[in-house]
Amino acid sequence: MSGVEQVRFTEQRLSEINAVVKKYPAARSALLPVLHMAQKDFGYLSMEVQQLVADTLNLRLMMVREVVTFYTMFREQPTGKYLMEVCTNAGCMLNGANELVEHITKTLGIKVGGTTPDGMFTVTEVECAGACGGAPVVQINNEYHEKVDAAYMDAFITKVNASAEGDQA
Ligand code: FES
Repeated sequence: MSGVEQVRFTEQRLSEINAVVKKYPAARSALLPVLHMAQKDFGYLSMEVQQLVADTLNLRLMMVREVVTFYTMFREQPTGKYLMEVCTNAGCMLNGANELVEHITKTLGIKVGGTTPDGMFTVTEVECAGACGGAPVVQINNEYHEKVDAAYMDAFITKVNASAEGDQA
């Protein structure tokens, strides 16, 4: 075995992709939604995954790369076990999202987009999470946390770290 596994979409995902492609006059218009699907399926967009997207949509890899590197919501590196996506759009920003990002990154000792050395946390900024009534909003993995403040995030981080230590004991 080479150790390099070929990445591929599941049959179900392929049929979803086909359905999306059919909505647009050109396959490249489906690039954004398909990249979102790929990121959901594989966790991040490695070069192999970007090539897979290019092949699936019949596009040149360069075109895929341009989009992936342009948008901060796309990740080319694996994330930590807990992906904290802080909405910094207007509604959340007005409710302290920027200060929250600063607090979390400082607490964890990483930059936005970075992952803690233990592979536990990644922090990113995202566009409106669609839950503006609960601003500021942080999506942690697939769960929305609303009206979040520094103390809430501190408690979350402490809880995760405590349970990780418990696992090692
Ligand atoms: S502005 Fe943050 S959820 Fe809409």
